[in-house]
Amino acid sequence: MKIGCPKEIKPQEFRVGMTPNAAYEAVQHGHEVIIETMAGAGAGFEDADYVAAGAVIVDTAEEVFATADMIVKVKEPQAVERKMLREGQLLFTYLHLAPDPDQTHDLLASGCTAIAYETVTDNSGGLPLLAPMSEVAGRLAPQMGAWTLQKANGGRGVLMGGVPGVGPARVVVIGGGVVGTHAARVAAGMGADVTVLDRSLNRLKYLDDVFGRTFKNQYSTAGSTIELVRQADMVIGAVLIPGAAAPKLISKAQLSEMKPGAAIVDVAIDQGGCFETSRATTHADPIYDVDGIMHYCVANMPGAVARTSTIALGNATMPFMLALADKGWKQACLDDPHLLNGLNVHAGQLTYYAVGRALGINVVSPTVAVKS
Ligand SMILES: NC(=O)c1ccc[n+]([C@@H]2O[C@H](COP(=O)([O-])OP(=O)(O)OC[C@H]3O[C@@H](n4cnc5c(N)ncnc54)[C@H](O)[C@@H]3O)[C@@H](O)[C@H]2O)c1
Repeated sequence: MKIGCPKEIKPQEFRVGMTPNAAYEAVQHGHEVIIETMAGAGAGFEDADYVAAGAVIVDTAEEVFATADMIVKVKEPQAVERKMLREGQLLFTYLHLAPDPDQTHDLLASGCTAIAYETVTDNSGGLPLLAPMSEVAGRLAPQMGAWTLQKANGGRGVLMGGVPGVGPARVVVIGGGVVGTHAARVAAGMGADVTVLDRSLNRLKYLDDVFGRTFKNQYSTAGSTIELVRQADMVIGAVLIPGAAAPKLISKAQLSEMKPGAAIVDVAIDQGGCFETSRATTHADPIYDVDGIMHYCVANMPGAVARTSTIALGNATMPFMLALADKGWKQACLDDPHLLNGLNVHAGQLTYYAVGRALGINVVSPTVAVKS
């Protein structure tokens, strides 16, 4: 198969769909890999790295799209990229179609087959191609929160680990899923006094079993949340209710009960945020002040560490990419129902029910589409 990887063109996106290691594996499997020049530069990969892996470098995205049987990317195709997709071509990337009718209609009109990273599943009910980015955002959250807490950035001027004779920062993590667990581990590793809140007793039991006394955990109610938030130097928002906007767990009025200069890191901002005062920010201008509380609400946190994020995403996508290339998408999806769950669009038909419901478009069962 000819596998193509264009340079990402969405603003501030520095990741790339294929690492040189992924390109090497694909070449070893007998495939041809075509990379747009400088595609990996933002993640620290040079054209020469891809050439050494056996890939071919081309000058333009047009050449990648015109040549490749499968396009491997990171972000959803932008309007100019969608125009280059063609009938029978396979697209493997993040899509997030439900809030994006323009993209959905363009993909349907192109006749391509599109498999979305975010809807591929695994045996434990997780989303294996979303999890690496939650891991990155979770581990980054205390790091950005610690920076936000610095006096020059408007914060309280509190050091995460304290020093002998001075206590550590108090960190509250709301939501103990993938983001929250990784955030709590790193915050505890920095020496902070960490408490994780969650609504799932099973999750709390898991955290207790696995992490013991590394950090505390508590059942999340409105009362327990505000009690902990009042004493916190840093609050990390990491809740998720699948398919719904994030619940607002702290109101604007409640900010006045917090310590002046405390930091809020709202990782759940990509689902609307779990604080009433959260609004999405960018890496160029990441923090703002509401009533003396510093907010960090970057919606694409993994972009800050594009190299780590690219490699983590590549590790997760590579086995699926190889299966698609080795077997063709139909056989790969027939062999793996979790990959079939990633099928969102095929030959002008929508094949993912939640997207169909969100956009009012008829859906053809993926099981039917894969056998067509
Ligand atoms: N900003 C970014 O760059 C970025 C990157 C990755 C993920 N995210 C977002 O981070 C959020 C968390 O993702 P995740 O992968 O950890 O999800 P997850 O499903 O693994 O975990 C979410 C947790 O929230 C808990 N929860 C739900 N309601 C709660 C409540 N009221 N109080 C306390 N806990 C509650 C759930 O029980 C679950 O354990 C999502 O909104 C995700 O989209 C953002």
